[in-house]
Amino acid sequence: MAPRKIIIDTDPGQDDAVAILLALASPEDVDVLGITAVAGNVPLELTAKNARIICELAGKTDVPVFAGCDRPLGRDLVTAEHVHGKTGLDGPSLPDPQMPLQEQHAVDFIIETVRAHDTGTITLCPLGPLTNVATAFQRAPDIVEKVQQIVLMGGAYFEVGNITPTAEFNIYVDPEAADIVFKSGVDIVVMPLDVTHKALVTKPRNDAFRALGTPVGVAVAEMTDFFERFDKEKYGSAGAPLHDPCVTAYLIRPDLFTGRHVNVEVETSSDLTMGMTVADWWRVTGRPANAMFMGDIDADGFFGLLTERLARL
Ligand code: RIB
Ligand code: CA
Repeated sequence: MAPRKIIIDTDPGQDDAVAILLALASPEDVDVLGITAVAGNVPLELTAKNARIICELAGKTDVPVFAGCDRPLGRDLVTAEHVHGKTGLDGPSLPDPQMPLQEQHAVDFIIETVRAHDTGTITLCPLGPLTNVATAFQRAPDIVEKVQQIVLMGGAYFEVGNITPTAEFNIYVDPEAADIVFKSGVDIVVMPLDVTHKALVTKPRNDAFRALGTPVGVAVAEMTDFFERFDKEKYGSAGAPLHDPCVTAYLIRPDLFTGRHVNVEVETSSDLTMGMTVADWWRVTGRPANAMFMGDIDADGFFGLLTERLARL
């Protein structure tokens, strides 16, 4: 089967970095047409820089990187240096990028790419706030029905919030954008904290990354050594949750995940629960299902795939 054509929309972020590396290591499964940076974990200038650092770490400098929106649709940017560090990629010491940033705005790249391909052949993979994707849908409503699928990391239901008591970071940063995406009618697969908090980089798993002995393996281990602090301190987790790589792994091995096709709506008015993804898991509302909301993962299978693919770079 031909590899899926994807656009990765991202706010690197150590876990975004691993998701991008997994994609770039899997050309038989995914064809990365471009990487679009968005403001999120750190400001746009850094996410656009970090995306290029990761492409160079993977030795894939032919993948075009675009800068997108530098703030949410209707509110101030909230960042997460407390999780990812000042650079957004704290942990390893990686060189500044040499590859250029594309001139074109990320939103225009998304619009142009979907318009230029047959309907149902482009998958959007948002790993950060949904500002770029929502802006593209607002600016070019014609592309909505052309998108094959959106596979995103964001939201939470049983796991509740990681930035507020009720909201997950990606949705919280731009709830208006998330509301547009979830109401778009596009076929959506969601990787919420409910599943990503089961994809923990335990010490044996991180040792396996380091034991690859390659620049990529060592860098991923060092990113994890830094990134795990937040979750270990807050949740007492056994390791860092690899949120965003769940998106890429789903494209390669969807069988690693289980969930339910349910209605998911986003809170955009209550300050108390702003950005909450209200997943009708028990189907009590009668609202039409609009998302495949994942709840479980074969974690050993996930880490086996990830380690095997990272070894290729
Ligand atoms: O809440 C986790 C999400 O927020 C991940 O995508 C992480 O990279 C941050 O963007
Ligand atoms: Ca992210």
